[in-house]
Amino acid sequence: MEKIRAAITGIHAWVPEYRLDNHELSRMVDTSDEWIMQRVGIRERRILKGEGLGTSDMGEMAVRGLLEKTHTDPLEIDLLICATITPDMLFPATANIISDKAGLKNAFSFDLGAACSGFLFALQTATSYVETGRYRKVIVVGADKMSSITDYSDRTTCPLFGDAAAAVLLEPTTEEVGVMDHILRTDGSGRKYLHMKAGGSVKPASHETVEAKEHFIYQEGQSVFKFAVVNMADVAVEIMQKNNLRSEDISWLVPHQANLRIIEATGRRMGIPNEKIMINIENYGNTTAATIPLVLWEYENRLRKGDVIILAAFGGGFTWGSIYLKWAYDPLSPSSEEGKN
Ligand code: UT7
Repeated sequence: MEKIRAAITGIHAWVPEYRLDNHELSRMVDTSDEWIMQRVGIRERRILKGEGLGTSDMGEMAVRGLLEKTHTDPLEIDLLICATITPDMLFPATANIISDKAGLKNAFSFDLGAACSGFLFALQTATSYVETGRYRKVIVVGADKMSSITDYSDRTTCPLFGDAAAAVLLEPTTEEVGVMDHILRTDGSGRKYLHMKAGGSVKPASHETVEAKEHFIYQEGQSVFKFAVVNMADVAVEIMQKNNLRSEDISWLVPHQANLRIIEATGRRMGIPNEKIMINIENYGNTTAATIPLVLWEYENRLRKGDVIILAAFGGGFTWGSIYLKWAYDPLSPSSEEGKN
């Protein structure tokens, strides 16, 4: 029997309109455009404004756009996985809320939390479902409203993050395209460097936790930086070696967008020149589970069937990994340009 692979057959993203740039940030905390550009490479990030709007609203827009673009009936979707660490609420799953809002009445759905590696973990999970042959249309959404857990009086974290959602459709194929291989890793001992102190079962929300600002991201930036540089590059090189891929075989490196210095260091280790690295951190910052599908969507028109692509990420948990895929479709309908800016 021919092997069934899972192929990405469509991609779409949605970002909020509001742009928080470095100049506005430098009026909120003691920072500067120069520092942020030099140390991180971010110029602006999108922020979801509006009472009562959350991660599911961005996810809904990404999914609706994806369905429209791929001419897919929402009733045909078998499964939706939402990668997020900023769910609408602790329960029910944001995936269920997105499915409801987008009319996915026949899908089962669940959330997956692996922070900045969330999209990779969810993509691989979805791939496993498709490869069984039982699931024919699966959506993976990476969505995070990072502004909801960012302390805008903390200059060490508030320049880094932004809000966005992006979604892919996965379908079975027997061609030599789609998700080819993966390496995924976790090391929970890294939790001390990057976490949220309160709001979970260990330390439920209280007046004290709110006063102590414990419902925001806590990050020891330098330590995370060191682990990120080493592990993201290691895992990307490992998947190349495992699949006998040389640098020149790779069409695109698609890295998680947390820091331009981490991205470029990963490219150097892999021997990939900058023009083959997808980068959009300058315009969106770190949107956690959304970075990889968001940047893929922006570059979609430059992709060709058979392109060899390495996805790589590192983030809270610690979690990290890489996925090797071959792009499954050629040029795109003009409608895929809509909404790109
Ligand atoms: O995606 C999830 C995983 N997260 C990551 O991958 C993030 C990894 N870490 C990083 O990207 C970097 O560590 C940061 C961007 C967070 C920080 O950059 P850094 O080069 O590691 O800076 P640092 O923390 O070593 O700080 C250097 C200096 C310090 O001042 P002193 O002690 O040298 O006087 C900071 O207080 O820069 C200062 N600083 C700032 N200055 C202006 C820290 N934040 C700011 C700021 N503006 N926003």
